[in-house]
Amino acid sequence: MEDDRPVTRGYVVHPDIRTNPDRNAPGPALEEAVSLAVALPDLEVAGSEVVPLNKVHPGTLFGSGKIEELKARIKAAGAGLVLVDGPVSPVQQRNLERALETKLLDRTGLILEIFSDRARTREGVLQVEMAHLSYQRTRLVRAWTHLERQRGGLGFVGGPGETQIEADRRAIDEQLNRLRKQLDKVVKTRKLHRAARAKVPFPIVALVGYTNAGKSTLFNRLTGAQVMAKDMLFATLDPTMRKVELETGDEVILSDTVGFISDLPTQLVAAFRATLEEVLEADVIVHVRDISHPETESQRAQVMTILSDMGVTEATPLIEVWNKGDLLDIEVADALEARADRDPDIFLTSAVTGRGLRPMLERVSERLSAPRTTEDLVLPYAQARKRAWLHEEGIVEAERTDDDGYHLRVNWTARQKARFERL
Ligand code: GTP
Repeated sequence: MEDDRPVTRGYVVHPDIRTNPDRNAPGPALEEAVSLAVALPDLEVAGSEVVPLNKVHPGTLFGSGKIEELKARIKAAGAGLVLVDGPVSPVQQRNLERALETKLLDRTGLILEIFSDRARTREGVLQVEMAHLSYQRTRLVRAWTHLERQRGGLGFVGGPGETQIEADRRAIDEQLNRLRKQLDKVVKTRKLHRAARAKVPFPIVALVGYTNAGKSTLFNRLTGAQVMAKDMLFATLDPTMRKVELETGDEVILSDTVGFISDLPTQLVAAFRATLEEVLEADVIVHVRDISHPETESQRAQVMTILSDMGVTEATPLIEVWNKGDLLDIEVADALEARADRDPDIFLTSAVTGRGLRPMLERVSERLSAPRTTEDLVLPYAQARKRAWLHEEGIVEAERTDDDGYHLRVNWTARQKARFERL
């Protein structure tokens, strides 16, 4: 399917602004930007570079000499789109597009495109759409035809005396209101979606991690050739959720998720979380880390913070995968391996060579067969839906009714109990 889409050649530029005290090391920052660009299915990276800047030029971001140089290199690379890894104001964008004679996307725009591509749940799609519109609302200085083409046309018609920009703004605000209402509805019915998910007959293992950690490589390696035939439903409906049989014989749904990214613009946070919703449904979370990355500890901290903000609790087992072990010096690898060995939930791996994957999967299996406890509950008759949920989960061992409600004996895992308490 994707082959039918025209491929755009993109040129990635990381402005390294010397006056910014919080600036990231330019090399890794450019690498991250390129890997984000590569995440777009219909984009090919034709070239990339760090552009050192002693100061920001308010109207054009770069100075005129730099712009001429860039223009020549972009032409030579045959690129039709420039991706600027940083914020670009609407005015800068318009001027740069004119000077470079290409279209331009800034970091927020690029991340939005990735989210649009990955959003799967209704809520995710709506959140991304809203973020897109809010973003474009700030860019209305640009020709409205561009906006209309990008968003498939919202039918902007100005009332009498209204300028085009005012009309566009009003149309966007109306559309945002409509989306907000739809989103409210979706959130209200989310419990039903959850119940539907709970009926998936296999446990869900979610791969999470910072962008470029190796989730997709691991996903592809684990799903390998066994995918398509086994469960067409998941294979075709959703390319990032697949049924796999672990070597231990357990059958699970493996779910790849969108990568975590630092400096997420605030307007994107909700959209990002919505695309990650399936993590809340996971029976086991596998946190994939690029252990060879200089910022690996801070990346880990960011991932853990977002997971806990999203409502992931200790009740969901979490396995940490220290990936890209093959890129480490032998002594470092040995030292890390020794540390990993002391923790049953940490593994030093390589998604490329396959190192460490088997014991990691064995641990996933172990964690899936979580210990169960038996408990007696009394549910008032008004809570019939909670009772229905317990039956759907198949964990009710005995039941009788009395004046005060349903008396149930359940046998459940800590995670089922936590989910029940969230109902
Ligand atoms: P996002 O989609 O951005 O979230 O990234 P991801 O976590 O899915 O990473 P992906 O699997 O796309 O891998 C990123 C890059 O790292 C690719 O170039 C992979 O080939 C490489 N890579 C992944 N795992 C390993 C590994 O174990 N060793 C080495 N040397 N490279 C790896």
